[in-house]
Amino acid sequence: MRYIAFEGVEGAGKSTVVRALAARLRAAGNEVVQVREPGGTRLGDAIRGLLLDGDSPMAPWAEAALFAAARAQLAVEVVRPALERGAWVLSDRTVYSSLAYQGGARRLGVEEVRTLNSLALDGTWPDLVVWLDVDAEVGLKRQENGDRIGSEDLSFHQMVAATFAALAEVELDRLVRIDASADIESVVDQVWDLVT
Ligand code: TYD
Repeated sequence: MRYIAFEGVEGAGKSTVVRALAARLRAAGNEVVQVREPGGTRLGDAIRGLLLDGDSPMAPWAEAALFAAARAQLAVEVVRPALERGAWVLSDRTVYSSLAYQGGARRLGVEEVRTLNSLALDGTWPDLVVWLDVDAEVGLKRQENGDRIGSEDLSFHQMVAATFAALAEVELDRLVRIDASADIESVVDQVWDLVT
């Protein structure tokens, strides 16, 4: 189990947990590749700009397809080569963000968005997805500056959280919930116990 992704609403603390876990894994002698979605490749960073900073109108399926395109490139260029040489891959967000944001909150349908992403990922799904669960309202308050999607209203982010919760109930072998309102050290300890 070496491809671990972190999910949650805005302000759940994903990037802090990724950094801390990467440091612990490296201290134990492992190679660790850190990525974030969308991004991590030249194409992915360009797509990230379109998705988060752009101001042109974007149909929900256009949005879902762009996230999937960035993810497909990341899988081919970064994730698969890293896993093949024995490195760990820690990801700030992954395909489950698309299920929750585009499938749930944008109402495209979780299974429809899963199908699109299954094609894009061609088998490169994370081994474990840690859902850092924090109340959407609390998370939004922690967020520093909202991008195009982050600045959607509270009910949108509550729908994101509700979709993560629904998925965690059925995908017991891949999606694990951790209470992210606990202090960061204890969150990292819990994740460490899960992955080692
Ligand atoms: P980011 O700056 O990475 O925000 P955060 O700190 O919240 O992780 O922005 C990513 C934004 O894109 C965030 O609002 C969630 C959204 N998103 C989707 O809607 N679908 C996706 O598949 C992904 C990866 C992100």
